[in-house]
Amino acid sequence: MQTELNIVILAAGKGTRMHSNLPKVLHPLAGKPLLFHVIDTASQLDPTRLLVVYGHGGDALSKAVAQRGSAVPHGSKKIIWVEQAQQLGTGHALQQTLAELGENGLTLILFGDVPLISAETLRTLLNIKPDEVGMLTVTLPDPTGYGRIVRDMQGKVTAIVEHKDASEAQRTITEVNTGIMALPTRELKRWLATLRNDNAQGEYYLTDVIALAVKEGKAVSTCQPRRCSEVLGINGAAQLAELERLHQLEIAASLMGQGVRLIDPARIDVRGELSCGRDVAIDANCIFEGKVILGDNVTVGANCILRDVNVAAGTLIAPFSLLEQAQIGADSRIGPFARIRPGTVLAAEVHIGNFVELKNSQVDRGSKINHLSYVGDTTVGKNVNIGAGTITCNYDGANKHRTVIEDDVFIGSDTQLVAPVTVGRGATIGAGATITKDAPADQLTLSRAKQISVSGWKRPEKKAKEK
Ligand code: UD1
Ligand code: CA
Repeated sequence: MQTELNIVILAAGKGTRMHSNLPKVLHPLAGKPLLFHVIDTASQLDPTRLLVVYGHGGDALSKAVAQRGSAVPHGSKKIIWVEQAQQLGTGHALQQTLAELGENGLTLILFGDVPLISAETLRTLLNIKPDEVGMLTVTLPDPTGYGRIVRDMQGKVTAIVEHKDASEAQRTITEVNTGIMALPTRELKRWLATLRNDNAQGEYYLTDVIALAVKEGKAVSTCQPRRCSEVLGINGAAQLAELERLHQLEIAASLMGQGVRLIDPARIDVRGELSCGRDVAIDANCIFEGKVILGDNVTVGANCILRDVNVAAGTLIAPFSLLEQAQIGADSRIGPFARIRPGTVLAAEVHIGNFVELKNSQVDRGSKINHLSYVGDTTVGKNVNIGAGTITCNYDGANKHRTVIEDDVFIGSDTQLVAPVTVGRGATIGAGATITKDAPADQLTLSRAKQISVSGWKRPEKKAKEK
């Protein structure tokens, strides 16, 4: 490969068919904007310069990239933003970048709305001889709308003809231009300067540089992507959904290739990075977002959502549980219907049952919160049992306070713990308590009124209706 590499991502198209106020390339695929997919792949090639051509109102793009901040993968260079105020064609878009391209090496052209192009395919495309032009083509059963690859009797590429400019005979060609190509920078700049717009669409076509290259005796070498999804572009919401599913099926196939047991590869969504140990099983309709790590022998029941979660080996996440920014220890049982909120760290052998909400709480080994509870801003020791309906009152209307529940505590059902409060080691809290002061270790603490029975008491009776 040559020393200098420019990568230009074209993203100035209006995306009219999305019918959306959000720029097309900021619509998410697998939870990540289309443009970020392309930027991340481009970064893997370690370009000398990475340029994005954006249209009017395109500040949204640079803002979105800036906001991403530290999430930008390691090694990505500062992006050069180039405005194309009027969209006069792909060739015109490239003309806007002329001053930025330098003089040496290759320029690789990518599309912001073709998100799944892979670095492997691009490396193959870039592996051309100096002075050659590299073009990524694909053969489609229905090539309507695409630029056709015209070859001579020897099979050498002579030109790309856009669908609207093609003759009947040319329209039968099924090999089409993906739009992705690699060109020697010095020549590209020269060719761009001579483009004309006397064609069916009145546009400056980038594709016209191919005929110019051939006229100068340059060889055009073509290669095809490893997977068809790599070159699929997005125009409308339906295509976005289609590509999403295709991409998810590829992710599912790759997980199953590593031995992950998916009950149905068509019913999983991975919007980020999911890494799995051995013998992981995932039931239907689960969504994984951000960075999720599942240890060996983890089972995830149906309809769970896990976002930035680390689950240690042997744990069962039962159906309909929602876990966010949390660490779950080994051999634990979570759910069904559990909600684990950010900042929660659970040690091993913890049981969290149905309709339990945990927030910013640490629960130590072997403790159980099995039914209908809210535990927030709380430190729970080892072997604690928190009865049904227990609530930590962590918020006084102005500030949050912590609750500390030490080892071996038993909290009776329907207890409120008004923070800040500490329940000492080995303490028992009688059911129905409202605990507002620290409860001492090893004692029974009760706060409810003494039970009494009233003899001779009568239930009220319904009055007869007056006529
Ligand atoms: C282009 C190719 C066609 C190829 C097809 C593959 C040309 C002339 N034609 O056609 O051979 O088969 O892609 O999908 O290149 N863009 C700009 N500024 C513009 C125009 C477009 O930045 O003025 C960007 C768009 O945002 C998009 C890309 O370039 O990312 C392609 O534009 P699009 O209008 O989709 O090109 P096609 O006509 O489909
Ligand atoms: Ca297109």
